[in-house]
Amino acid sequence: MAANRDTLWIYVVGALLLLVTVAVYTQYFQPEWKDYQAGFHDLIEEKLGTQKAAQAPAGLQQVWARQLDRVDRCTTCHTGTDWAGLDSAPEPYRAHPREILAHHPIAEYGCTSCHGGQGYATDMVRAHATTLEHWDEPLLGKELGQAYLIGNREALMEINCNLCHRFDRTTAGMDYINRGKELVAAKGCRACHTINGRGGVIGPDLTYVGDKSPEQYDYSRMSGVPSVFGWHLAHFKDPKSMSQTTVMPNFGFDSRDAQSLAMLVMSWRHANLPVRYLPGAQLADRPTPEELAKEHEMMTGPGAFFVQKTCFICHSVSTLGIESAANIGPDLADAVADVPRRFGIPLESFLANPTGTMSVVLSTQIRLTPEEKQTVIEKLKIAYQKKQEQQTKSPQAVPKT
Ligand code: HEC
Ligand code: HEC
Ligand code: HEC
Ligand code: HEC
Ligand code: HEC
Repeated sequence: MAANRDTLWIYVVGALLLLVTVAVYTQYFQPEWKDYQAGFHDLIEEKLGTQKAAQAPAGLQQVWARQLDRVDRCTTCHTGTDWAGLDSAPEPYRAHPREILAHHPIAEYGCTSCHGGQGYATDMVRAHATTLEHWDEPLLGKELGQAYLIGNREALMEINCNLCHRFDRTTAGMDYINRGKELVAAKGCRACHTINGRGGVIGPDLTYVGDKSPEQYDYSRMSGVPSVFGWHLAHFKDPKSMSQTTVMPNFGFDSRDAQSLAMLVMSWRHANLPVRYLPGAQLADRPTPEELAKEHEMMTGPGAFFVQKTCFICHSVSTLGIESAANIGPDLADAVADVPRRFGIPLESFLANPTGTMSVVLSTQIRLTPEEKQTVIEKLKIAYQKKQEQQTKSPQAVPKT
């Protein structure tokens, strides 16, 4: 009896060992990508004939973008990338949209420089890296786009595009980032933030804010998936919701604009790239000639003081010819009357003891001497007088605000 039992056990254990060996063997010699390559072979045979099918790639494929220090094996599964006649084939076999590769040949750019993902991995879950936590570079594709409800599912990829295209004013194919750049100029973010060496110091320098690690953000006030992208979205929609005491204004951005800005600020990373990968065409993150000309005109007019002291970044003083591009603060033309109305104190007291944004401005970014404060008061009295003169002359031309 005992001998029989032992024999049985030997059979069972033997069978188990065999199963394990077979499993390991198939995993090793029959990895996921082999199935995809077999599928590709069949697809080509069916679509383009047996002769073409013989040219289908077999074995591990990789692109070594030497100068970018990237080894990308995505083409092991994405076998149809540069094939003709596969524009509507199913993934992972579809031919790549061609126009973008004309400017960025795969041999020099690989795949992950645009798409993200783990270039070295050869199974889909790890290569796309969208479900694993703490991967630095997930595939910026449909899955994440969907998670963040972004209208254009591929748009997140623009974060990577802009690592190289940072200094373009606009770039074809980068609608979200282009919009973000437009907003940064129109809303006057530089009034408070230094970006690329120019701007104020009321908020943090944003030049490399994209390098901040996820642990540096406080997600305790967030609903939804905690992520850096999600934090920026919430912060742009309502800065105070993420940072209670901030003086960053709520600009009333809609979802799309908030997404555009979140992508833009996340793209502001150090790029250790060889010069040839940086498009030199229009290094244009500088003031335009028109902006410079207007500034010069204001510099020499009756409101020059407000330009020299950089108040004009946030304030117009309309009756002295000062036009702010950003208008983050109110027009100072009627501050003489408006300050007592809003704060219950005369302008003199407000400047001596400012509250809110101006308390931050006057203690960090612009320090005024007592004489300069006196100049402010004198100039703003003149501005107010002019405003009243204008109003009595042509009462119907009074602006609504
Ligand atoms: C093991 C095979 C495999 C590897 C390796 C692989 N992929 Fe894929 N990929 C697929 C399959 C299958 C699909 C279609 C199914 C899907 O979308 O989930 C796909 C879809 C995609 C898509 C379109 C869907 C989307 O999310 O936008 C992109 C882009 C993509 N892959 C990029 C890459 C990049 C970049 C790499 C290299 C880092 C890579 N893939 C490596 C198999 C693979
Ligand atoms: C210069 C940037 C760039 C490089 C390099 C690049 N791609 Fe793309 N890829 C794009 C763009 C842009 C699209 C079009 C996205 C869209 O549909 O709007 C795209 C589309 C795709 C799609 C189809 C996604 C879909 O939704 O249909 C796949 C798959 C893909 N790429 C894989 C790859 C692979 C694999 C490589 C490397 C062999 C690669 N890409 C290299 C920019 C790039
Ligand atoms: C690794 C750096 C790098 C990345 C990433 C990159 N580009 Fe480029 N791109 C360049 C360079 C360099 C050129 C100029 C190449 C040439 O001479 O044609 C260029 C040229 C272009 C052009 C044509 C010239 C122009 O400025 O109008 C477009 C459009 C463009 N890129 C869009 C994109 C988009 C969209 C992405 C992301 C999907 C992207 N690029 C990702 C470096 C990059
Ligand atoms: C009146 C001043 C002011 C203006 C104007 C302003 N910000 Fe801010 N911003 C701040 C301050 C102060 C903080 C730090 C506190 C906080 O997180 O809100 C900040 C924080 C930020 C952060 C988070 C930085 C980090 O370390 O992660 C980003 C990103 C940002 N601002 C972007 C912008 C953009 C883009 C604009 C223009 C649309 C803008 N800001 C306009 C004052 C300003
Ligand atoms: C970074 C942007 C910024 C700069 C630079 C700035 N201000 Fe302001 N200022 C504001 C904001 C925002 C308000 C509105 C504050 C509030 O409502 O609490 C304001 C309010 C004021 C007011 C009250 C106006 C009213 O009608 O209630 C005065 C006066 C004023 N600022 C003067 C100045 C002067 C003078 C300078 C230059 C020395 C200056 N500000 C620079 C943002 C700025």
